[in-house]
Amino acid sequence: MASLAGRVALVTGGAKRIGRAVALDLAKEGTDLIIHYNRSSAEAEGVAAEARSLGVHASAVGADLGGAAGAAALFEKAIGAFGRIDLIVNSASIFEESTLASVTSEEIHRNIDINALAPLELIRRLAAHVGERGAAGGPAACVVNLLDARIVDNDRHHLAYHLSKRMLFSLTRITASELAPAVRVNGVAPGLILPPPGRDDSYLEDLKGSNPMGSIGTLDQICAAVRFLVTNEFVTGQIIYVDGGRHMKGSFYGT
Ligand SMILES: NC(=O)c1ccc[n+]([C@@H]2O[C@H](COP(=O)([O-])OP(=O)(O)OC[C@H]3O[C@@H](n4cnc5c(N)ncnc54)[C@H](OP(=O)(O)O)[C@@H]3O)[C@@H](O)[C@H]2O)c1
Repeated sequence: MASLAGRVALVTGGAKRIGRAVALDLAKEGTDLIIHYNRSSAEAEGVAAEARSLGVHASAVGADLGGAAGAAALFEKAIGAFGRIDLIVNSASIFEESTLASVTSEEIHRNIDINALAPLELIRRLAAHVGERGAAGGPAACVVNLLDARIVDNDRHHLAYHLSKRMLFSLTRITASELAPAVRVNGVAPGLILPPPGRDDSYLEDLKGSNPMGSIGTLDQICAAVRFLVTNEFVTGQIIYVDGGRHMKGSFYGT
């Protein structure tokens, strides 16, 4: 398995919640960090400080990923921080309610821009960066996209989100096959881990019976899946569902 020590990771949406947990887990493995944030600058600076206390280099970088220009600017700022990037974890996301009856093209475009096209732009730039630095740059660069267990399901309450995550799922497979061997691209598809921002744990409790394990997942379980994907150099194009088996049920999400 590849060592993470001395590598440089960009974690989008790294100020809070899943992105924060993954970033700090990588820091414990010795990975230098660029913590991306949109609005949560103070929290991102806090994560960077916590990572530095673990003995790695870490900086916080802000960018609105609501368009390709934001992702491009983020990549350039991130390269400016430590001169290289070896690993990207695409965790930043929006999770908005929308239905077939009411969804607008603006909602669909916004979800796709942030949840799928920003990761695509970062992946393309990583591939170009790795190409420029050549074979001396070390092991394959690596990307982990945070997907959602409902990519194999239907979620009638979050249509635009659902479409964007399905697009990111396809992009994971497409980029994995096109960018090998220079860049490995994998996905982690969480199920019930944290309630959406603004909701409490009753959200998870109400839904936990919908997965075969009848339980709620943890941040540690997500971090372990990410760590496996970034260290196992023979794995690309893989999706790990961390969802208590929810993806096998094949019915409507949340019902
Ligand atoms: N939570 C779960 O149980 C669960 C389940 C399934 C899938 N997932 C997936 O796992 C990933 C992490 O989940 P999470 O719940 O930790 O995510 P989250 O809290 O909903 O969002 C993560 C971050 O995305 C950033 N973000 C939102 N809009 C942005 C924009 N326009 N530009 C740049 N950044 C933006 C925010 O950064 P700022 O705070 O800095 O603004 C936010 O903190 C997501 O991709 C999510 O879809 C999570």
